[in-house]
Amino acid sequence: MKLAVLVSGSGSNLQSIIDHVEAGHIAAEIAVVFSNKEDAYGLTRARNHGIPTAVIQHTEFTDREAFDAAMVRALQEHGADTVALAGFMRMLTPVFLNAFPMRVLNIHPALLPSFPGTHGQHDAATFGVRLAGCTVHFVDEKMDHGPVVIQAALPVTPGIAGDDLAGQILRLEHRVYPQALAWMAQDRIRLDGRIVHIEGSGVPVCDTDGVGPYLVNPPLEDDFAA
Ligand code: GRF
Repeated sequence: MKLAVLVSGSGSNLQSIIDHVEAGHIAAEIAVVFSNKEDAYGLTRARNHGIPTAVIQHTEFTDREAFDAAMVRALQEHGADTVALAGFMRMLTPVFLNAFPMRVLNIHPALLPSFPGTHGQHDAATFGVRLAGCTVHFVDEKMDHGPVVIQAALPVTPGIAGDDLAGQILRLEHRVYPQALAWMAQDRIRLDGRIVHIEGSGVPVCDTDGVGPYLVNPPLEDDFAA
């Protein structure tokens, strides 16, 4: 798999992907790290690992389609066949998505379909949810919408600051995104409409009542836990 990672900012997810590729956990080469912002720190992370970079500023284009076409050309010049959005703050049009059909993944810092948009963790904290998490999903034309590959959940401390929750979720992101990309590289992901099957993946083992492992917050007290 020849992967393009698209970043607009810090690139901590990119770093985790780089580390897992270098460790041999993902059967992929990072062909290029692309950004729409020349000062994105993710570009520095890429250069530190000798990974090619490309920058095209979206502000130079009058419409999304023209920007997307330029991105496609840049990524294809580097031989990319798969795209991972990692904090890439632009919506993609069919011009882009049709160039990499069902080969574009994104990570979102909330349990979709709850809390789409750019402040998922803060919205979840403000809403007062008891469980939060992150989602890796295929990208389609709607924001934070495509088929779900993997989700990870964690309990939320009541009253936690949005930034603190974001930090906790980010550490989960750094685990689940490389995992999803490893499955992609191994060609183990099958789509049945919106439903994603991972060939050979583990399945949750249910107890005798057919209730699988679950996360409940606050914890159930003894009378209700059985
Ligand atoms: C992450 O929270 C990711 O879920 C969201 O953008 C953020 C990117 O963080 N899509 P980083 O640049 O990977 O540190």
